[in-house]
Amino acid sequence: MNNAAAPDLSSLDFWARPYEERERSFKWLRDNDPVSWHRPPEPLAPGLENSKGYWAIVRYEHLKELSRNDTVFSSAEGVFLDDFPQLETILSFIVMDDPRHKALRGITQYAFSPRNIRRMEQQIRDMATKIVDEVAPRSEGDLCELVFKQLPGRVFAEVFVGLKDMHRREVLIESAEQLGAWADPTYAHIGPPLAVFQDAARKIMEIAYEEADRCRRQPDDNLMTWIVDANHEGQQMTKEELGAFFTLLVGAANDTSRHAMAHAVINLHRHPEQKALLLEDFEGRIDVAVEELMRWSPPLMHFRRTALTDFDLDGTTIKAGDKVVLWYCSGNRDERVFPDPDRFDLLRSPNRHLSFGNGPHFCMGSSLGRQMVKCILREFNGRMHNLEIGEPTMLLSNFMNGVLSLPGRWTP
Ligand code: HEM
Repeated sequence: MNNAAAPDLSSLDFWARPYEERERSFKWLRDNDPVSWHRPPEPLAPGLENSKGYWAIVRYEHLKELSRNDTVFSSAEGVFLDDFPQLETILSFIVMDDPRHKALRGITQYAFSPRNIRRMEQQIRDMATKIVDEVAPRSEGDLCELVFKQLPGRVFAEVFVGLKDMHRREVLIESAEQLGAWADPTYAHIGPPLAVFQDAARKIMEIAYEEADRCRRQPDDNLMTWIVDANHEGQQMTKEELGAFFTLLVGAANDTSRHAMAHAVINLHRHPEQKALLLEDFEGRIDVAVEELMRWSPPLMHFRRTALTDFDLDGTTIKAGDKVVLWYCSGNRDERVFPDPDRFDLLRSPNRHLSFGNGPHFCMGSSLGRQMVKCILREFNGRMHNLEIGEPTMLLSNFMNGVLSLPGRWTP
């Protein structure tokens, strides 16, 4: 459709606008051009180039249909809008299709059993308490640095890998930071964005290999030991597959959870009447409330697929080889599914948002991500008295809805 009102999702200028303004553009697309073609995106960082245009999918039902249809819509050609190489050896099964995706995910599923999830949830709760113990006696600071970055970093190093050595813990946390910040000029001395990403992955994999050996020799009660032990239909992960899986986990668990916590604190602050409603019965309401927090500000805004065959979607032909971008953030505000979608309503139910994806690639760590948000809100509510927050600094990205910094002040 050629229409002057159509938003240009490919321009960096679009992504520099506030989320709510962008959402009005997605609404325009949902109503007027639900399967729209876009020019190649302006690259997010120097050193990246995009050669292909793409389809933007913005309605909830279309998003569900396409994300479930992995025989036509492949993840193996890459999952980001930008032409980042598929990096299968680094990002494991999130960039694979069945049967390899199913086999590898099947192996790891064993480690994410209900018993193991419950154990990790308890550890996350203890860790959140410890972090707020350290931060509460101060009276101000950047909450992203002090809290939101800390929790997923330590969960990864201690709960997932069981790292005891402080130095290696630091290396792992710093490498995780580098993996998520490949486009950040701070790392430009290492090389172009792809080199920054690969360098971080190499450091993570080295630690994963060594810790896997340790857990084989001395089994522990942590995710690494469960993965080393895990098998699916007699198959175990090779050393390289295990290294790639841990790199995927760093990428998938770290920044997502960090930004989810930051948004949760910001959104409660911006909606004091909703915050009061939650605090009237925190334990009774937090499970429902966390879903609205996730719907309102999804940490990841899209995932991409590539069509393997021609496909008709509502009268539009998507051609084999075309890039197809699933804007989960737009589905979360689709008025065809969510009544009054622009109302922030912590008691909204049902609330089947798409912030953890849908279909065979549905997030494996959704309960752990939710748990980090819940634990931080519980700790903040109990111990960060009279918390006031300032203006957040937002990341410029078409993928990650990221909060870079959030100044806070509270009574020690
Ligand atoms: C609030 C935090 C989180 C959010 C918003 C989030 C979001 C997502 C989304 C949208 C996907 C779907 C990818 C696709 O459609 O291709 C996904 C996949 C995945 N997530 Fe999460 N995630 C979060 C936390 C976590 C955590 C804590 C872990 C680790 C324990 C994790 C592990 C994974 C894995 C392994 C996949 C790939 C699944 C597959 O390809 O089969 N995530 N996540």
